[in-house]
Amino acid sequence: MADRIPLPDLISLKGKVALVTGSGRGIGRAIALRLADAGAAVAVSDMEAATAESVAAEIRDGGGTALAVAADVSDEAAVKSMVRACVDELGGLDVVANNAGIFPPCPVLGMETAMFDRVIAVNLRGVFLCTREAAAAMVDQGRGGTIVNVTSIDALHPSMVGLAHYDASKHGVWGFTKNVALELAPHGIRVNAVAPGGVLTPGVEEMGGGSSDAVAAFSARIPEGRMGDPDDIARAVLFLASDLSTYVTGAQLVVDGGVLLT
Ligand SMILES: NC(=O)c1ccc[n+]([C@@H]2O[C@H](COP(=O)([O-])OP(=O)(O)OC[C@H]3O[C@@H](n4cnc5c(N)ncnc54)[C@H](O)[C@@H]3O)[C@@H](O)[C@H]2O)c1
Repeated sequence: MADRIPLPDLISLKGKVALVTGSGRGIGRAIALRLADAGAAVAVSDMEAATAESVAAEIRDGGGTALAVAADVSDEAAVKSMVRACVDELGGLDVVANNAGIFPPCPVLGMETAMFDRVIAVNLRGVFLCTREAAAAMVDQGRGGTIVNVTSIDALHPSMVGLAHYDASKHGVWGFTKNVALELAPHGIRVNAVAPGGVLTPGVEEMGGGSSDAVAAFSARIPEGRMGDPDDIARAVLFLASDLSTYVTGAQLVVDGGVLLT
């Protein structure tokens, strides 16, 4: 039997490079901070350049290494240059958290085609583009890697009316995750998903139009009795990104305070 690896070594990402999309705020920011805590050099990527820069500065102020990259994940050319920046400026790519996502509520009966297309473009096409480019870099490096896709409980079951476009995109990401896990396993690249329940983020606050009623109604359904904190999700991502989960691939870890049980 192999020697038991000490726990701090299993969770450590020292010497590794991580890329987190949509990490200028919310869940992505929490993931970027945790991966940096674990020792990774982090590419903080967001469509909003200023927020990416401020999270990268937060990591550097804490003694870590971070690079801000402005990129829209639905833009093929931007994704290619984002991955190139990781390799050229941080020295490689070992961990990717595909987190960028949008969730504008809208009933299907009143939904413009452009809105449907945009949600699919960001949430599903974006995961495809980032995975293809990142996996190609990982295969070239020949040292494996981990990819964690942030899905949603909506990848399994609708959380509310008005998210049909979103649910379609997240079901798509879950199917994509399983098939890519199969394809990349021979390269030593593990691909998994984390499915958050309700998490208090700026995006969720904007979704409620500033009203706390929607959040209160959702919270009342959660067995753990509270909305998630972005760091609840970041801890699960760190588990799947690190050697704590060496034999896990093609899995979806639900992190929802028990709400899917109800
Ligand atoms: N908050 C929740 O309750 C919840 C629940 C389930 C799943 N999720 C998923 O978690 C992820 C993050 O959600 P959040 O609540 O932190 O959202 P948020 O709106 O608070 O933050 C999302 C970040 O992604 C960036 N972004 C948006 N579109 C982008 C694009 N095209 N390219 C690059 N960056 C882009 C935004 O600028 C923002 O910084 C999403 O994929 C979302 O679907 C969130």
